Amino acid sequence: MENINLELIFQRLKTEDLSLEDRSLRKVAIQAALRAYAPYSHFKVGAAVLLSDGTVVEGNNQENAAYPSGLCAERVALFAAGASFPERPVQAIALIAVRNGTVQSALAPCGACRQVMLETEQRYGQPIRILMCGDETTIIAQSVKDLLPLSFEF
Ligand code: THU
Repeated sequence: MENINLELIFQRLKTEDLSLEDRSLRKVAIQAALRAYAPYSHFKVGAAVLLSDGTVVEGNNQENAAYPSGLCAERVALFAAGASFPERPVQAIALIAVRNGTVQSALAPCGACRQVMLETEQRYGQPIRILMCGDETTIIAQSVKDLLPLSFEF
């Protein structure tokens, strides 16, 4: 028997210490969150996907009365990017949540979104930075692999 020890390193920055580019991606995610369709959870999530040429694709959660039919913000954004710009690698994704008009603390993506992010990373063969944004701080992962160790691969 052997132990497998994993060292995962994330950065946590104050909002004001983010780079200009990261701060503007966070802002786009907030704007996207405010347009979410979340009449059931009232938990509005926004995602902003940065592509290799600087294009930013937005997404937000889209809920449905038949609950599993809805979709998370990250997948709405990643699938929209894949649908419109399949030849442009994804470089980064910022996500953030707003409840009752207030930006929440740093939001980590759900398991299904991590799986989709992983495949996006593998598809383009380059790491995706994940900006888990909050009101005061943002946690940054440098690759989806850090969010989904020992992941399923086909
Ligand atoms: N949600 C997201 O959009 N992204 C996540 O990573 C987690 C959860 C949405 C799904 C649902 O519309 C609401 O947040 C409450 O779970």
